[in-house]
Amino acid sequence: MRKKIIAGNWKMNNNKSETKQLISSINNLLKFRDNLRVIIAPSFTNLESAVGYSSDSFIEVSSQNVHHKTSGAYTGEVSAAMLLSIGINIAIIGHSERREYFNEDELLLFEKVKTTLDNGMEVIFCFGENINERRANKHFDVVSSQIKNVLFKLKDSEFKKIILAYEPVWAIGTGETANPTQIQEMHSHIRKLIAAKYGNKLSQSTPILYGGSVKSNNAVEIFSNKDVDGGLIGGASLNSEDFINIINSI
Ligand code: PGA
Repeated sequence: MRKKIIAGNWKMNNNKSETKQLISSINNLLKFRDNLRVIIAPSFTNLESAVGYSSDSFIEVSSQNVHHKTSGAYTGEVSAAMLLSIGINIAIIGHSERREYFNEDELLLFEKVKTTLDNGMEVIFCFGENINERRANKHFDVVSSQIKNVLFKLKDSEFKKIILAYEPVWAIGTGETANPTQIQEMHSHIRKLIAAKYGNKLSQSTPILYGGSVKSNNAVEIFSNKDVDGGLIGGASLNSEDFINIINSI
């Protein structure tokens, strides 16, 4: 059975003391469950402290980004090996904000994914259509090519280390969520795509998260879809009670 995953993407929020406070209040409310992974993604500067603050809990810590090269003259950048050396084993790659504001294209995203996997880390890979693509009824095609152009270049053994996160761009930070039918039909489409490429077994074991305005009042409905294995939570992950309510909804 696939494990459930709730991941909090903190984006560019929380300084060091806020990071400590938020982790400690999540920890106070969090109950261990065997089939559940809880991941948080603070900013680079707070990753090492976050690992320390969550050492007595089952919370896992992910980075929000990673550089595509192993090392070298890339001023201001952070490599996968650096992350690993402070206890970070997961990186978010392909978030729509990185694609849009930092011009990350699929060639670069593939390099990032590959380098991260080569370092033995897991990847939370984000993708999703924008509003114009949805209105033009191109969302299945867009998502298919986003997955094929990056993830389907991987070997089976590499693909196993990927957590997929379907995040329709029009639902991120907007308060507007895809409805359960839209979510389930896309997740099922993705699972079929994976089955056609890597076989049914791997497809059935691959986690597919939904992201985009998941809140405590819509989480139950979203997570009740059979191909939804959890959520990537932005805004609502910044408040411990909201985040815990979402965790308890799965
Ligand atoms: P949101 O962000 O929950 O604030 O919409 C989701 C994300 O960007 O991963």
